[in-house]
Amino acid sequence: MSAADAGGTSDRLPLVAGNWKMNTTVEEGLRLASDVRDATRDVGGVEIVVLPPFTHLWPLRDLLRGSHVQLGAQDVFWETAGAYTGEISPLMITGWCDFALVGHSERRHGRGETDVQVGRKFAAAIAAGLSVIVAVGETESERDGGQTSSVIDRQLDAAFQPFSAPPNADVFVIAYEPVWAIGTGRTATPDQAQEVCAHIKARLVERWSAPGARVLYGGSVTVENAAALFAQRDLDGALVGGASLRAAEFAAIATAAAARARVA
Ligand code: PGA
Repeated sequence: MSAADAGGTSDRLPLVAGNWKMNTTVEEGLRLASDVRDATRDVGGVEIVVLPPFTHLWPLRDLLRGSHVQLGAQDVFWETAGAYTGEISPLMITGWCDFALVGHSERRHGRGETDVQVGRKFAAAIAAGLSVIVAVGETESERDGGQTSSVIDRQLDAAFQPFSAPPNADVFVIAYEPVWAIGTGRTATPDQAQEVCAHIKARLVERWSAPGARVLYGGSVTVENAAALFAQRDLDGALVGGASLRAAEFAAIATAAAARARVA
């Protein structure tokens, strides 16, 4: 078993993804993406992804083509075509878009998406050839009720259920995002984040025979708390919301993740 399989960090390239959510006009998004590209130009040893709104994806593809910044969608539907008004098929972005995010809590809790639907989206995006970030996380009352592990397990198990064999570890990433930490300024402590990220890695190995995938933390990650979070053994990067809208701060977070890679 490699160091990574055992929960070590050495051969997992950190990944930092910026989830812009429903922010920026197309023009503002083009400017932000170009600032992110320039601000991170010299940051090696970390994978950098931006997740703008759907309307921005095609113009950003041209802007970022050939650069070190990868492009991803914030969501994707589980069917490939048909009468699904307002939805975006994974096939529509395959070939020029690198990633899709599925299972964000603002979709699970805000839009009523179920664990099963998240699994279908995950499977459809993988089948289409996209890399996928699958977000999981407990609410505050679930944590207070001692249910964090069981909620994470339930969400993970539903996400992997549609697969006859788990996808390769290099085409998916799990993002642990405690719902109570998203957009609240209440970051999980490094210990709390480490505990759940380690649990996720163990669950992937024990239940799904899927070792080696990266696990990110998300929820009020800032330039101030990034280094302490990345010092934890089982955090392989971050899914960043608010701070990803500020190119310099996002670049500083990516730099902190890259520094982790060098000391690992
Ligand atoms: P936040 O959002 O960094 O603004 O808390 C994280 C996310 O929702 O992915």
